[in-house]
Amino acid sequence: MSNLYDKAYDQSINDPDGFWGAIAEDCHWYKKWDKVLDDSNKPFYRWFVGGETNTCYNAVDLHVENGLGDQDAIIYDSPVTGTIRKYTYSKLKEIVAEFAGVLASKGVGKGDRVVVYMPMIPEAVFAMLACARIGAVHSVVFGGFAANELATRINDAKPKVIVTASCGIEVKKVIEYKPLLDEAIELSDSKPDACIILQRPQARADLIDGRDFDWNDEMEAASPKDCVPVKATDPLYILYTSGTTGEPKGVVRDNGGHMVALKWSMGAIYGVDKGDVYWAASDIGWVVGHSYIVYGPLLKGCTTILFEGKPVGTPDASVFWRVISQHKVNTLFTAPTAFRAIKREDPSAQMMSDFDLSCFNYLFLAGERLDPDTLTWAENALKVPVIDHWWQTETGWAIAANCVGLHQFDVKPGSPTKAAPGWNLAVLGDDGNPIGAGDIGAIVVKLPLPPGSLPTLWQKDQRYVDSYLSVFPGYYETSDAGFIDEDGYVFVMARTDDIINVAGHRLSTGGMEEVIAEHPDVAECAVMGVADQLKGQIPLGMMVLNAGVERDHEEVVKEVIGLVRNKIGPVASFKTAMVVKRLPKTRSGKILRGTMRAIADKKDYKIPATIDDYTSLDEIEESLGKIGYGSKA
Ligand code: COA
Ligand code: AMP
Repeated sequence: MSNLYDKAYDQSINDPDGFWGAIAEDCHWYKKWDKVLDDSNKPFYRWFVGGETNTCYNAVDLHVENGLGDQDAIIYDSPVTGTIRKYTYSKLKEIVAEFAGVLASKGVGKGDRVVVYMPMIPEAVFAMLACARIGAVHSVVFGGFAANELATRINDAKPKVIVTASCGIEVKKVIEYKPLLDEAIELSDSKPDACIILQRPQARADLIDGRDFDWNDEMEAASPKDCVPVKATDPLYILYTSGTTGEPKGVVRDNGGHMVALKWSMGAIYGVDKGDVYWAASDIGWVVGHSYIVYGPLLKGCTTILFEGKPVGTPDASVFWRVISQHKVNTLFTAPTAFRAIKREDPSAQMMSDFDLSCFNYLFLAGERLDPDTLTWAENALKVPVIDHWWQTETGWAIAANCVGLHQFDVKPGSPTKAAPGWNLAVLGDDGNPIGAGDIGAIVVKLPLPPGSLPTLWQKDQRYVDSYLSVFPGYYETSDAGFIDEDGYVFVMARTDDIINVAGHRLSTGGMEEVIAEHPDVAECAVMGVADQLKGQIPLGMMVLNAGVERDHEEVVKEVIGLVRNKIGPVASFKTAMVVKRLPKTRSGKILRGTMRAIADKKDYKIPATIDDYTSLDEIEESLGKIGYGSKA
């Protein structure tokens, strides 16, 4: 074996028990596992069966006991409120224990769900860890989702308590969360017993007597709670992610496998150690936030940065460099879109020169395809390795990465490098057979998935099987298409379903179509993700109106845009739609979304032989041209 990576990869695939069993020794267990990998109920695999642990204990208390109590655990840097606040591991333990007491006083115990609907503030992290402390299951909902999306998640998770804040701050806009929460609870069949609300000075919320409780009042009255042992296989959290319909998928993460894999990944993939300062510039509402703002860095004993701001506009494109130099950040992880935003404002990276970035070692990017332009720009400007890595909400950590803690590879632009240990990748053709190096097909993972990846969907085992395991039996279908070259480098090219990636945010075009179809004037519609220089992709809607609708088309378009914003949320970035006479379809009625997308993106496309009406494509090309898309622009 030539290097640590090869050795690790080989053992992880051929001897997963030995590989993960040894790694798990690095964590604290109340009771050791009976079995590392339990494959007795295929295709449901479980890790560390029989083991008992507590994720909060490992992420917080253990470090205090091991002498890291005075080290900063969290640095909250909020340019939108002009605040910087630091929490040592000792302070974090004290606050989390108190908030665990608050939750317990509202009847929350092992296995109960708690929805956390909060902006990027430390209290969100306290709430997550407090749940872990008492064995409750948190479900964090991203603040940019509308009430309806929150309601869908409340209905599915059935939380006993919801924790929220009075508002979030988007650059200069104050977004009141409380009206959204009230509407969501109104819309959902499942009602929480209590809501705990952190009042922020930017917009105080009116509390509903008997249901809503003030965070600070509750904390004053709380009796702190200790960590309780939970089974390794007990759920730690549910994180909803876009599926192919409007009904999101509740990705479940367990305690044991997740803790083991994430703690290990901090060293093996990101090359950091305890005491290092790690910054994932994402949002706790996304998987990156769960894994690498909260759990990964804290499990490893790092200092994590909680940044409430944007790469540009808070106040300008130098903010990332200010945060790195001020807090001595060693590793930054964000999405390529953040760098595209900075590059657009400061193309020659002039603003970087005002800051001492000598502490900075690595930039990791994920969440969407890393375009070679952004890669080169970041490499030239930062002069540190820029590392693309590929993963999904479902997988919890990187499927393919340049594992800098094991061995650093040459970067091939366009590739997130090789499969990380634990991920037995293959590329299959439509017939389910492996295809040759360099040929594009469905990227799949041979089962079992490694620890830390989803064991199932929340209370929907069959949907888990149907969604991920049924098309290629024995494999997990990533729904990404791509290829693996002769050197083992993975290239992820496109989704095979209707998921699009808008500014690193995963969204379902099917979900948007469902909302648009509710408009009384719309007969049918199609939403596609078209290329966007800043956000990677943005959704574009095409609508056919009902016969006899005489209204101004612009009015309908405005209403439809408003509908998507109100039902899904501003994060959908649904701002472009048009009315057309008909949608191009095959004779069997399948809308040619791919062809329309290719026209919009000025890509070559073949006109399918089975198209029902050729003039419909001309009209689409004409309409797209009018708004600046396609070759007729
Ligand atoms: N709460 C409320 N609203 C939110 C929100 C939140 N947490 N997050 C986003 N929104 C709103 C935005 O204000 C914006 O609203 P608008 O239509 O009124 O302007 C809308 O949702 C779209 O947001 P976004 O896609 O983030 O676009 P943007 O123009 O505000 O910012 C970037 C563009 C590139 C700067 C921004 O997307 C970014 O920083 N991305 C970093 C990457 C990232 O965090 N990825 C997550 C996975 S790693
Ligand atoms: P999410 O579940 O929000 O993390 O989105 C996962 C999807 O984002 C993947 O299935 C890919 O389509 C895409 N993605 C994430 N990281 C990368 C990457 N490094 N390269 C290409 N696509 C990526």
